[in-house]
Amino acid sequence: MMTNFQTSQHPMKTIDIDGRSGRSTIYVGARLDDLPAALPPDRTVIVTDPVVRQALGDRFPSFPVVEIGTGEAAKTLDTLATVYRRFIGLGLGRDSFVLAIGGGVVCDLAGFAAATYLRGVRFGFAPTTLLAQVDASVGGKNGVNIDGYKNMVGLFAQPEAVWCDPTVLASLPPREIGCGMAEIIKHGAIADLKLIERLESRREAALALDPGVMADLVERSVRIKAAVVARDERESGERRQLNFGHTFGHAVEKVTGAPHGEAVARGMALAARLSCELGTLPEADAGRLIDLIASYGLPTGIDGAPEALIDALAKDKKRAGDRVHFVLLESLGRAVVQPIPLAVLEKEFHRL
Ligand SMILES: NC(=O)c1ccc[n+]([C@@H]2O[C@H](COP(=O)([O-])OP(=O)(O)OC[C@H]3O[C@@H](n4cnc5c(N)ncnc54)[C@H](O)[C@@H]3O)[C@@H](O)[C@H]2O)c1
Ligand SMILES: [Zn+2]
Repeated sequence: MMTNFQTSQHPMKTIDIDGRSGRSTIYVGARLDDLPAALPPDRTVIVTDPVVRQALGDRFPSFPVVEIGTGEAAKTLDTLATVYRRFIGLGLGRDSFVLAIGGGVVCDLAGFAAATYLRGVRFGFAPTTLLAQVDASVGGKNGVNIDGYKNMVGLFAQPEAVWCDPTVLASLPPREIGCGMAEIIKHGAIADLKLIERLESRREAALALDPGVMADLVERSVRIKAAVVARDERESGERRQLNFGHTFGHAVEKVTGAPHGEAVARGMALAARLSCELGTLPEADAGRLIDLIASYGLPTGIDGAPEALIDALAKDKKRAGDRVHFVLLESLGRAVVQPIPLAVLEKEFHRL
């Protein structure tokens, strides 16, 4: 059962995702303040974290609130169990609606909780970080970590609706904005030269979080991920493109403990250089992408001991035999996935 949740007076763009695990509608330009009318009264529960509640709680619709801890450490099976217990305590039945308001941690965990509670109740997201708006709430992946293994347990299930409000980003620390920008740049680099141009020409307004400009960047970005996911929800082929900058980025993240987006920024710069070395991308395009990444205050150099990085790459869970599915660029806006032998990567690493 799908409901039309478009209720806002604000200009909204609607993006539909048709995944195997369900349909999802994303409303970009929505406002948190307009949600109540769109949700079932008496049967909706909010899941959030204390930092988000502190920053935005006065704009929450008046439904009961279930709080989880803040940050990656809260994304566990223990937290999940406390959420189920709160749902039971609140008397949530099959006709209830779970609304996650928060970053990727809240959305991933609340989505998992909703999709499994009573074998699945309705749910939606109001993502409050830039990363969650352009990445975590699009694509139907939900889950938690276990024993230090990220996103080890979970399921595919599409939120019925996602409301992206550009004004909620105002309270985000600049570093969190940078992490979201890295994913937007990624979407442009793999699929949309226009998005790259927009990022270049509207940089000042974007960094000042102008709501109109942010809604435009989020919309273009979501469209790209939505299109890829619709064609390949379970990552057998095309969805791999979304890993641009991530193969090396994950290695940097593991070795240096850098925030995800900053590690991905380094990974994209390296992948662009590697694309030149391997002859798929003109030098000028690589330079342009690296300049763009840097202009958003993100790092572009290699960081971490080479041996440790290569070791981490070798343990990449997306490795196939002695090769790594590496995402290269053919131009700005066009990606190609190539299996590259680890030995070649290692050699190029040392050269770069
Ligand atoms: N499901 C997917 O496809 C997918 C994709 C990418 C990432 N993820 C997951 O997303 C998570 C990372 O997401 P994240 O970066 O949003 O992290 P997060 O949810 O931990 O949010 C980052 C911090 O910002 C705070 N915060 C959130 N909104 C705020 C606001 N408006 N104002 C002030 N503070 C605010 C949070 O309390 C938290 O401290 C990871 O667990 C990752 O695995 C999932
Ligand atoms: Zn990422």
